[in-house]
Amino acid sequence: MGSRWLPLLALPIALATVALGGAPDAAEPTAPDAPTPRFPKGTAPMQLGPLPAGLATWDAATCARCHPDEAEAWSRSGHARARTDLLFQAALTQDRPEWCVGCHAPLARDTGRVVPSAEAPREERGVTCAACHAVDGAVAAGEGTDGRKAPHTVAPGPHLTDSALCAGCHQFGFLVHTPASLPRLSGPHQQQQNTYREWLEWRRASGDSRTCQRCHMPGGDHSLGGVRRVEALREAMRVELVEGGRALEVWAEGVGHAMPTGDVMRWLSVEVAPDVLFERSRTVARLGRTLALDLWPPERSPHLGVRHDTALKAGERRRISLPTPPDGAAWTAWRLVYHLASESQEREGLVPPEDSRLILHSGLLPARSTP
Ligand code: HEC
Ligand code: HEC
Ligand code: HEC
Ligand code: HEC
Ligand code: HEC
Repeated sequence: MGSRWLPLLALPIALATVALGGAPDAAEPTAPDAPTPRFPKGTAPMQLGPLPAGLATWDAATCARCHPDEAEAWSRSGHARARTDLLFQAALTQDRPEWCVGCHAPLARDTGRVVPSAEAPREERGVTCAACHAVDGAVAAGEGTDGRKAPHTVAPGPHLTDSALCAGCHQFGFLVHTPASLPRLSGPHQQQQNTYREWLEWRRASGDSRTCQRCHMPGGDHSLGGVRRVEALREAMRVELVEGGRALEVWAEGVGHAMPTGDVMRWLSVEVAPDVLFERSRTVARLGRTLALDLWPPERSPHLGVRHDTALKAGERRRISLPTPPDGAAWTAWRLVYHLASESQEREGLVPPEDSRLILHSGLLPARSTP
């Protein structure tokens, strides 16, 4: 009975959608942190539409047969190994592994706490082609490709060049524990990964309109620069001695968001030592986020949240004064270290220190007579 009313009720909504759809492309998604059927942010299985004519499966192995260049580049990216990755496997908790896997391998059939073997389908091991290219009944392509020579249906995919595509996984809240069987995430007040919102802020402040893709997939490069781009991080992070060596200035160059960004466990440390081997080093600054289990209104039950955030804002230059060295000593060297795992995870030995700490820059401090 009620279904007879549906078309009438649906009409104003459809009209409203059309009106919104006609707006200029500057329109931003209203809630990039909210789960959608396409990118449920791990809270439910990802929904793919019907297969394109000419394709029997969305499997990456099939795409790879005809698109070897993109597939080879992609296989070197963090996306291809997002679930088999050492750090991910170490961090994977007993609690709701299906939530984590829902983003790290959104098309996996087995969402349990397993390490898929190298022979397992790529869908079990990471973020595959369909996560970005699947649209209803077609493969999405960027501008200027008509796909007339393709054996499968190709449709224009304006979403491919929109940062909102990346926000689908690179912007999300904390897990809020509820008795419900489906996980629920905290709203805009507390975000576990905030890269998309940081990017919006950077764009507003700098007037630069580059998207995530423009910086991370230039010319359609699917490798994202390859896993653990130490060189890229080194190039992005800058340090300068100021005040005659009594302080350091740290900033990021050519980065369209905070630094570090992404996973909450990332941090940067500025360290000084009286010896060049850093045997007695002291950490003089920590750049990153600190978590706490607390009550974060408007949420009514406690969940993990960000208590302090000392990450560099996009465009920020941070001055760090060096403390007085221990008696009779002088600081001789400094270094900037990027940490993949958090300070407590490093202490607890979640990953060996050499797998967590990337030394980006180091240098000597000018010798000076103590006053
Ligand atoms: C049997 C071979 C074959 C398979 C399988 C295949 N493609 Fe294609 N695809 C092609 C060919 C050929 C074209 C047209 C290339 C051209 O126009 O130069 C094409 C076009 C495209 C395009 C448009 C860009 C362009 O270069 O025209 C995209 C994007 C694409 N394919 C992605 C995929 C994805 C993702 C998969 C797996 C879900 C896939 N393809 C599976 C052969 C294939
Ligand atoms: C993280 C999202 C993402 C994943 C995963 C991904 N792609 Fe792409 N792909 C893109 C973007 C973005 C472009 C560039 C679109 C543009 O700039 O026009 C692109 C471009 C392409 C093109 C060139 C045609 C075009 O539209 O410009 C092909 C072919 C392609 N991808 C195939 C693949 C295959 C095969 C895989 C899996 C092995 C894959 N992609 C995985 C996002 C992705
Ligand atoms: C389906 C979810 C998903 C989507 C969509 C997605 N990513 Fe990712 N991305 C991930 C996950 C998960 C990782 C962590 C990989 C790992 O474990 O190293 C990641 C890692 C990365 C990294 C770091 C790579 C590294 O080596 O650690 C970059 C850069 C990145 N993504 C950029 C993008 C950009 C740009 C887009 C949009 C074109 C995008 N991602 C879309 C899930 C996604
Ligand atoms: C103006 C260029 C620029 C823009 C725009 C940009 N990034 Fe970045 N991003 C960088 C640079 C440079 C780095 C540091 C070097 C590296 O890791 O590649 C970085 C680092 C990252 C990392 C950390 C990688 C790691 O090693 O842990 C992630 C994740 C990431 N970006 C995702 C995104 C996403 C998602 C967007 C869009 C919402 C985006 N970026 C927009 C330039 C940019
Ligand atoms: C909404 C999507 C999403 C969910 C859910 C998610 N992640 Fe991630 N995760 C990402 C993205 C995107 C990145 C890449 C950012 C970066 O490199 O800093 C990432 C990066 C990571 C990394 C760093 C990987 C590396 O090689 O450095 C670890 C570890 C990780 N996630 C663990 C987890 C665990 C454990 C869970 C579940 C408790 C989880 N993630 C849930 C999206 C997600």
